[in-house]
Amino acid sequence: MNSQVNVSVSPGAAAVAYSAALDVIAAAEPDVAAAIAGELASQRRQLKLIASENYASPAVLLAMGNWLSDKYAEGTIGHRLYAGCEMVDRVESIAAGHARALFGAEHAYVQPHSGIDANLVAFWAILARRVEAPALGAAGAQHVNDLADDAWERLRRDLHSQRMLGMALDAGGHLTHGFRPNISGKLFEQASYGTDPETGLLDYDAIAAQAREFRPLVLLAGYSAYPRTPDYRVLREIADEVGATLMVDMAHFAGLVAGGVLTGDLNPVPHADIVTSTTHKSLRGPRGGFVLCTSEYAPFVDKGCPMVLGGPLPHVMAAKAVAFAEARQPSFAAYASAVLANARALADGLLRRGARLVTGGTSNHIVLIDVAASFGLTGRQAEAALLEAGVVTNRNSVPRDQNGAWYTSGIRLGTPALTTLGLGPGEMDEIAGIITAALRATAPATVTAKAKYTLDDPVAAQCRARCADLLSRHPLYPGIQL
Ligand SMILES: Cc1ncc(COP(=O)(O)O)c(C=O)c1O
Repeated sequence: MNSQVNVSVSPGAAAVAYSAALDVIAAAEPDVAAAIAGELASQRRQLKLIASENYASPAVLLAMGNWLSDKYAEGTIGHRLYAGCEMVDRVESIAAGHARALFGAEHAYVQPHSGIDANLVAFWAILARRVEAPALGAAGAQHVNDLADDAWERLRRDLHSQRMLGMALDAGGHLTHGFRPNISGKLFEQASYGTDPETGLLDYDAIAAQAREFRPLVLLAGYSAYPRTPDYRVLREIADEVGATLMVDMAHFAGLVAGGVLTGDLNPVPHADIVTSTTHKSLRGPRGGFVLCTSEYAPFVDKGCPMVLGGPLPHVMAAKAVAFAEARQPSFAAYASAVLANARALADGLLRRGARLVTGGTSNHIVLIDVAASFGLTGRQAEAALLEAGVVTNRNSVPRDQNGAWYTSGIRLGTPALTTLGLGPGEMDEIAGIITAALRATAPATVTAKAKYTLDDPVAAQCRARCADLLSRHPLYPGIQL
């Protein structure tokens, strides 16, 4: 990996560690060892433009493969339901301390096993703080177990009749932001805000008007596929005006906050009551989640386990601590700036070659191509054709998508992973050329086909060769030969 943007381990040490680890695993189950080696080979073959993926450092990955995994530690630091948790306390304290320092947060909770779990912890913390605590106070009770049956039934109903206002899915919001297939949609009465049909941008006056009308308990911001940077100061003002808790899910862009390229009104941490995140996307850590919050919400967030989480994963918290420590290095700020510069170069290269982009460009790590408007393809056809051409992406809805959530009209691209490998703006322009060449050589198999397509073989072969050339200049985990 490029030493400028990455991680501090000698390739030789990582090579020895992995070949020894795979020998040990192979002795127990050779097929699993083969699959692990196969995954590295597969990742080395493809140009990874999936906006939610990255390459964690060997130190992060190795911190997960050890005996911390064997320990049960329900509860929080210093308050566990099991004896013998000194080392788990130590690991969790290190991770939480790094997270607080990295993001300037009053409190950090690093147990959530994933982004979905971090959101669940936040939802229940808000409900506990805003609905349950006042009900307990009114009844003169300390604990839910102290409530009489009728008071408990009233509280249960109140907990399930709250409102959430979040970003619409086809505007780039996430399923966990109050949509029916997810528990959040079953728990909350939800309304969603979209984007301006002309510009594709958030319209804060429209959000404010909707909030005044809907009066949500939770105003939820954050996105998976919005290529711009919301203004959290304005969202905070809207939340305050209607008495809502402002929650921001920064799962996608936490690395850009950590690296100091999203600051002031573009940094959610100083503005929101609760911020949730994953650790494995732009932040380049292990798969996992965490929650940041004000001290007002801290006691409620800390009850995440066993409220909605199973026992903590101490080995993953160790890897989070390593990732947060890496993100506090100056090299991570350089990485975050490079992610942004690369996304701009990719967007410019696509626009110059005639592609239509949602919002007309990007100001974060995401570029969303409208492949229906640009190339007459569904997202599903474009995703498959690009994979054949050597580029891994994922299909995504665009605002007011005519092809529905399965086939979609968009392709989402992101630069965190290739930036970790050390690719720069010139190479992003080359990639824009590969993508447009492949999509121009793709056509729906029939007039009505939404999945089947044809791709010109010589063009696909040429694209694969260009991808292989780029990857050979920026090898993944150099030195590790399995
Ligand atoms: C905004 C947002 N929140 C939450 C999640 C869920 O993260 P996880 O897959 O770790 O549960 C995602 C993942 O795609 C996301 O983009």
